[in-house]
Amino acid sequence: MIGEMAKAILVYDTVYNNTELMAKEIEKGMKEAGAEVVVKKALDAKIEDLKEVDAVVLGCPTYYDDLLSSIKWFLTEMRKADLKGRVGAVFGSYGWKAVLEQMYAPMKNIFGMEMVDPSLKKKMTELITEEGKGECREFGKKIGDKIKKK
Ligand SMILES: Cc1cc2nc3c(=O)[nH]c(=O)nc-3n(C[C@H](O)[C@H](O)[C@H](O)COP(=O)(O)O)c2cc1C
Repeated sequence: MIGEMAKAILVYDTVYNNTELMAKEIEKGMKEAGAEVVVKKALDAKIEDLKEVDAVVLGCPTYYDDLLSSIKWFLTEMRKADLKGRVGAVFGSYGWKAVLEQMYAPMKNIFGMEMVDPSLKKKMTELITEEGKGECREFGKKIGDKIKKK
C-alpha cells in the first residue's frame, strides 16, 4: 500500500434515509483515515466496482426481520469477485432488532473477508444526536485504519 491510497467501496440502501445518514458519516471517517471511498446505492453498484478495492462496506436497514432485497442481490453478486483477505464491514439502522449478521456471515464465512468487529447498528433515535453521528465517523476511521495496516 506504500505510495498508493487505500481504496474502498461503500454500498448501501435505505428507505427513510437513516442508513444513508450513517453512510455519509462513515464515508467522512474513512476519508479522515486516508482512504479513497466510492459510495453507491445497491442497485447502482456493479461487480466491476469491486476490482482493486481493499475494502467492501455494506449498509442496510432492517425491515420485517430481513435485509432489503437490493442488498441481498448485491451480496449474492459479490461471489463473482475474489474477496478473500480483503476488509469487510457492515452497518445499518434499525428499530428494535437488527439483522446485520445476515450480511456479516457470508462475507466472513463464504468470501473469506477480514471483518471489522463489532458491526455498527444504530437505532433511528440515536442518529439525530451528535454522539450517534460521531460513532459512525469512528467506525469509518476504524475501517480506514484496518485497510492501511494490511
Ligand atoms: C414497515 C417497517 C418494518 C420494519 N421492520 C423492522 C424489523 O423487523 N426490525 C427492526 O429492528 N426494525 C424494523 N423497522 C424499523 C426500521 O429498521 C428503522 O426505521 C430504520 O431506521 C429504517 O432505516 P432506513 O431509514 O435506512 O430505511 C421497520 C420499519 C418499517 C417502516
